[in-house]
Amino acid sequence: MRLKARRCIITGAGSGIGRAIAKGYAREGARVVVADANRSGADETVSEIRSQGFAAEAKEVDVRFREEVERMMAEAIGWLGGLDVIVCAAGISPVTHFLKISDEEWDRVIDTNLKGLFLCGQAAAHHMAAAGGGVIINVTSQLAEVAQPGCAHYVASKGGAKMITKGMVLDLAQHHIRVNSLAPGLTNTPMNPLDTPEGLAAYADIMPHIPMGRPGQPEDMVGAAIFLASDESSYVTGATILVDGGYLAL
Ligand SMILES: NC(=O)c1ccc[n+]([C@@H]2O[C@H](COP(=O)([O-])OP(=O)(O)OC[C@H]3O[C@@H](n4cnc5c(N)ncnc54)[C@H](O)[C@@H]3O)[C@@H](O)[C@H]2O)c1
Repeated sequence: MRLKARRCIITGAGSGIGRAIAKGYAREGARVVVADANRSGADETVSEIRSQGFAAEAKEVDVRFREEVERMMAEAIGWLGGLDVIVCAAGISPVTHFLKISDEEWDRVIDTNLKGLFLCGQAAAHHMAAAGGGVIINVTSQLAEVAQPGCAHYVASKGGAKMITKGMVLDLAQHHIRVNSLAPGLTNTPMNPLDTPEGLAAYADIMPHIPMGRPGQPEDMVGAAIFLASDESSYVTGATILVDGGYLAL
């Protein structure tokens, strides 16, 4: 068990990639707090984990708002008895042509995908610094490196996510906090459903550019997330682990 007794928070774990990581961490011996704006999704993840005999607790949070993040963090740390690892996977990806993005949609994407990392990372780091260290994993995207149509706000948020990770590294290493990015490629989740012919058709232009010939599944992200949380990566900070089936190699 590579994460035995580690105390972990995973945001966005009510669905998709965050859920798969929460389940993977629990299998490796971690106690996990499943934090999500969608309470029923979070409850579903928790019951799946508990049904396997592992420990999990749901907390509702909207990562865009400081008060909510600080409340969630205090409650989660109370239940966990401390905090070793936070994975920030909460995110949204509306597809809208650049000429049609409203101020409201711009703010929602940036606040969720980028400010959420600031608020969650800062709240976690305050605790970790006082406790002697920890691990922060920001879930970014292959779209921190390249753009796609209809995603100007999303790619801006993910480029920012990659860079806030680096900024955090420089200020937090002295507190023994490691900070890394996990960058998924196109992955079959409710954000990007790819398990139907219609879903696959929507990404027909992208599929030929994935050398491995298939989209990712949420479970494909779990190994990298375990590595980054475990002592196996004890000298890794500021890295981006791409899990994209080779998309960016083309
Ligand atoms: N699916 C992909 O193809 C893909 C590719 C690259 C990166 N990502 C990133 O991976 C992460 C997880 O995405 P996913 O594919 O699992 O999507 P998903 O929609 O399945 O899960 C995202 C979760 O985040 C939660 N969430 C959204 N806004 C929130 C908020 N303000 N506060 C708290 N929780 C909130 C949702 O309720 C949901 O449970 C995101 O950051 C996404 O940008 C996904």
